[in-house]
Amino acid sequence: MTTTKNVSLKSFNTFGIDAKADSFCNITSIEMLHTVLKKQHSNPLFILGGGSNMLLTQDIKALVLYINLKGIEVISETDDSVVIKAMAGENWHEFVLWCLNNNYGGIENMSLIPGNIGTAPIQNIGAYGVELKDVFVSCEATNIKNQTTETFTKSDCKFGYRESIFKQDIKGQYIITSVNLELTKANHKLQTGYGAIISELETSNIDNPTIQDISNAVTTIRQSKLPDPKEIGNSGSFFKNPIISTEQFNKLRENFPEVSSYKISDTEVKIPAGWLIEKAGFKGKRFKDYGVHNKQALVLVNYGNASGKDVFELAKLIQKTVKRIFNVDIETEVNII
Ligand code: EPU
Repeated sequence: MTTTKNVSLKSFNTFGIDAKADSFCNITSIEMLHTVLKKQHSNPLFILGGGSNMLLTQDIKALVLYINLKGIEVISETDDSVVIKAMAGENWHEFVLWCLNNNYGGIENMSLIPGNIGTAPIQNIGAYGVELKDVFVSCEATNIKNQTTETFTKSDCKFGYRESIFKQDIKGQYIITSVNLELTKANHKLQTGYGAIISELETSNIDNPTIQDISNAVTTIRQSKLPDPKEIGNSGSFFKNPIISTEQFNKLRENFPEVSSYKISDTEVKIPAGWLIEKAGFKGKRFKDYGVHNKQALVLVNYGNASGKDVFELAKLIQKTVKRIFNVDIETEVNII
């Protein structure tokens, strides 16, 4: 097991921020993970997965553990469904493609989401009407303090909109090592209700879509709106869509009758942060080497050599401006480090 000193994390975060790690260790087995954790005691650690949901605003004064655990296996199956165990270091989209190749359905709407399997439960990733929690069975995680392996069921995880127990009550205490998902083998339950998917399938003249058709439609939609992190550094949606009271929404609608909303409960609605940011004038704005994407205002981008601090300052300016114009708070979805 080797630990490397003073490592650039530029190629390990999709924002492409050139922060440095004091030291770095590539974790390729659970035994290795346990050994490192035992040795580290109370020294600071930083757990790195796909690096797709973080903005590094400073160098990491810690040992970075790069969770590079690989493997996909079928745990159990019936005629209709299959439970698959995927290790934390598997790339999410490659896993989706593997499932499509095997005709396993349930995650096709989440095609092309950046990041790894192990980080998917932390923020309950989701897109086009499907969230990880819809197919999630359980995950295994190592307790950092005593290196025991614990299983978290779906209810243990307390999933919410881009939320879970791993971001709340037990934040920083566990490392997810594998995830079990239940997918369909037959009678796939297609989720085609999302407007953009309907129009994409219409454009391609598809009446009876397969899971592959839906994946293709989602891929086309995402590629048309979201920048490819390999070309332009970004972390997908930088902010969450805010959930506000119906009362506040009615007030907002008096001034902005065109604002759209999604009902959460009798007393709350979710409104699109992308719309608020666009209305506030930020869509497509570029400042030096960073800015707001021109096709999706929820996405902040690094055109090359921006620092994390630059991007964070822009995020704060957007939050302040949105608050001033609409009296709505927008929270970051991305973890600010
Ligand atoms: N909108 C604008 N201007 C913009 C962007 C969006 O007015 O620049 C409006 C759109 O017109 C639409 C509404 O906002 O009425 C919603 O837009 P969209 O369908 O593109 O989805 P989103 O709310 O912006 C969310 C997720 C995405 C996910 C899509 C599709 C969050 C924070 N983001 O975006 O997830 O792909 O829905 O389901 O919930 C991610 O988390 O990184 C991510 C990309």
